[in-house]
Amino acid sequence: MRSAILSGLVAVAMAIGNQASAQQPIIIKFSHVVAPDTPKGKGALKFQELAEKYTGGKVKVEVFANSTLYKDKEELEALQLGAVQMLAPSLAKFGPLGVKEFEVFDLPYIIPDKAALARVTKGKVAKELFAKLAPKGIEGLAYWDNGFKIMTANKPMHHVADFHGMKMRIQSSKVLESEMRALGAIPQAMAFSEVYQAMSTGVVDGAENPPSNVYTQKMHEVQKHATMSNHGYVGYAVIVNKKFWDGLPADIRSQVQKAMDDATDYANGIAQQENDDAIAAMKKAGTMTFYELTPDEKAEWMKAMQPVADEMASRIGKDLIEQFRKEAGGGS
Ligand code: LMR
Repeated sequence: MRSAILSGLVAVAMAIGNQASAQQPIIIKFSHVVAPDTPKGKGALKFQELAEKYTGGKVKVEVFANSTLYKDKEELEALQLGAVQMLAPSLAKFGPLGVKEFEVFDLPYIIPDKAALARVTKGKVAKELFAKLAPKGIEGLAYWDNGFKIMTANKPMHHVADFHGMKMRIQSSKVLESEMRALGAIPQAMAFSEVYQAMSTGVVDGAENPPSNVYTQKMHEVQKHATMSNHGYVGYAVIVNKKFWDGLPADIRSQVQKAMDDATDYANGIAQQENDDAIAAMKKAGTMTFYELTPDEKAEWMKAMQPVADEMASRIGKDLIEQFRKEAGGGS
């Protein structure tokens, strides 16, 4: 009799427990460092909408934009500790984590156009790079696009010689360090959230970023010149804490994966337009001049930055660079 009552009580306690946990949604904190009205910012909000919709509210996504929760340096550590569940860092920011091969995306001119980018992010190298995250306790979920980088500064940048001695902010990437040195500039690695202030106080003379980041961080208010060089690329790896991801109930995980897949299509679908709109808005603001390189000037820039790939081959891997180029060029 006594054991029947006890097992009854246990069953009731479990039911209440399940009911309570059933009412408590699974929380995904999604932290990133850019403004909400950017390709990544809008992609994160789309993921929030779809993950909550597809799981019927069993998952709640909290998006923390513009470094409001974690800044560049802190966010990867926070993810590994499980203090945040999801990030979408720039591909240039995995070196400090020990996965420096992502910096292949930073090589100047290695991605000729968006069609090449689509081939690469769906290819063998992209998968190999994600596989390198697993030992770090991180699961790679998707590649999100932003766009090609322009150079900004308070002086015109037409010739390579114009960069001589300029302090240029970069993301924490050895490839970008090598790129700026190849131009004769002095690279200054710095968190994205500190760039506007550094520009306005003269700590740095200029920087490189896609137009959507230049505009939404108001850099066009503290930089008078932009060169539409498209000399490099900014894209993202959407990543999640692996223990958290593997611990999700299988049905919830597949619903969240579908939300990520659909948000990825959305984010990659709007990226170019976001950057085009940012250029139009900055031109309308009238605070910045926009310079297009002549073919000779572009050839001069490309020649100056050519040695970067050879210099970085030991860091990234010669074979990986070759495979990347093959995929970008349309090879297998
Ligand atoms: C940067 O320059 O740090 C940005 O590319 C950051 C970002 O996430 O776009």
